Amino acid sequence: MRQFGFDLHRLFSIALGLPEDYFDKFIDEPFTSFRAVHYPKLETAPEPGQIRAGEHSDYDNITICTIDPGLQCRNRDGDWVDVPVLEDTLVINIGDLLMRWTNDRWVSTRHRVINPLLDSEDNQRRMSLIHFVQCNYDAVIECLPTCQRLGHPPKYPPITATEYIIEKYTRQIRFEKWDDKNVNLYGTADTESRFE
Ligand SMILES: [Fe+2]
Repeated sequence: MRQFGFDLHRLFSIALGLPEDYFDKFIDEPFTSFRAVHYPKLETAPEPGQIRAGEHSDYDNITICTIDPGLQCRNRDGDWVDVPVLEDTLVINIGDLLMRWTNDRWVSTRHRVINPLLDSEDNQRRMSLIHFVQCNYDAVIECLPTCQRLGHPPKYPPITATEYIIEKYTRQIRFEKWDDKNVNLYGTADTESRFE
């Protein structure tokens, strides 16, 4: 899976008009992580408005995960769209760090997991396998050369991948809202207002 993430970045390089190996030096010793998230079968109906995983975007470069019923993504119109469950298929989300790296040219995917109806076929034990593809700890993330031009300068200052992730997790565990100062420093990706 780690190699798959590495190879995907080679495709990203080409898509962004960069040398094919551009990202190699930033992701050859990444602090990737793997998470198995278990959602038990519902025994009682959930509370009104209660869902399995609330709306968010991931902090990493990309996320590779299995597809199970209930996963939804927000499109650019702000509507929730069901991710189709296809056999032998993985879903790949752009994360906040890649969004920042591309100067917001590529937008991180906001997603959530909703509950099945209690008496539906989809009410099954759900095991989601998620691989978060990060950069090297010391990778300096600054606007990619092909994502800036005259009149469209970098939106964010350089930051190491470590500084970025620590800031993200620190704010997460403090339940802090991101004000304008944070947006300027760390990007817009996890502000709840992005689609409002
Ligand atoms: Fe996620």
